[in-house]
Amino acid sequence: MNELLRRLFFLPEQGSTFATRVDALHFAMLLTTLGVGTGLGLTGLVFLVRYRRRASAEPTPHLIAPVWLEAVFVSVPLALFLLWFALGFRQYVWVESPPPDAMDVYVTAKQWMWKFAYPGGPSAIDTLVVPAGRPVRLLITSRDVIHSFFVPDFRFKRDAVPGRYTEIWFEAPRPGRHQVLCAEYCGLDHSQMRGEVVVLSPADFEAWRASRREGVPVAGESMAERGEHVAASQGCLQCHSVTGVPHIGPTWWGLYGRVEPLVGGGKVLADEAYLTESMMDPLAKVVAGYPPVMPSYHGRLSAGDAGALVEFIKSLRPPRPGPPVAEEPVYVPTGR
Ligand code: CUA
Repeated sequence: MNELLRRLFFLPEQGSTFATRVDALHFAMLLTTLGVGTGLGLTGLVFLVRYRRRASAEPTPHLIAPVWLEAVFVSVPLALFLLWFALGFRQYVWVESPPPDAMDVYVTAKQWMWKFAYPGGPSAIDTLVVPAGRPVRLLITSRDVIHSFFVPDFRFKRDAVPGRYTEIWFEAPRPGRHQVLCAEYCGLDHSQMRGEVVVLSPADFEAWRASRREGVPVAGESMAERGEHVAASQGCLQCHSVTGVPHIGPTWWGLYGRVEPLVGGGKVLADEAYLTESMMDPLAKVVAGYPPVMPSYHGRLSAGDAGALVEFIKSLRPPRPGPPVAEEPVYVPTGR
């Protein structure tokens, strides 16, 4: 049934778990509206024939529908629309919440190619290799203009914006190949900005990863290691400690995933989006208790360096189980 409808509506292959779910919702809505529309049309036709005016002098009777009938006319469509909302909203929340065990891959768009970097290992141009049956979270950014990462088989599309990271996740249930397109007009070769997602079985994926590591001994540096060098060379560590002690800025130790109070009220979750925003636009959300003195690194950090810094900050945390090693003490301005 699902397959038949997919072909009927000329939809591409369902290459992700999200594609199957979103198509099911799509089909349910289309079939319901088709059914209701056909029913209304047929009723109209029957009425047209049955109640047509037979003599020109015949007056049209004046009818008033009973209240209960009016209530049915209002409540049935309302219930249907609320049902769509509930189903759609549930899927929206699901697709916007990456599972905690997802494998991260950094995606950097530039005119006119896609670059994929794995935190622990190799990077690749235009071909994203992922294992089947495992959630993958993409952290997407751009080096130049706005692009959009679009995989029709996965039924998703996410903008790649310079200076910030957007995220999306997917799980491909079986091995296969899926086309990647750029869905935001980005210059001369926009239409040529294509890539591919290659889904391998978990065993094949591990073999691929191992082969990539052996093949490139020099680039064996992980993203976190590269981020440590970037942090040192860009002067980040003059204001941010990595040990849990606050300095001019908040410590990076355990920062990732923490909820920070902000100057002027409110809170922010220190995730990839916030960390990169703070590099590029540091004064947008200043953590309470710290002076707003950080300069912007927009144009000074490449997308690769920004991603490496994020990975470095993510690596600065105690091993998952067990109490945190160092709790950040409350910063009290001394009034110097
Ligand atoms: Cu990149 Cu269009």
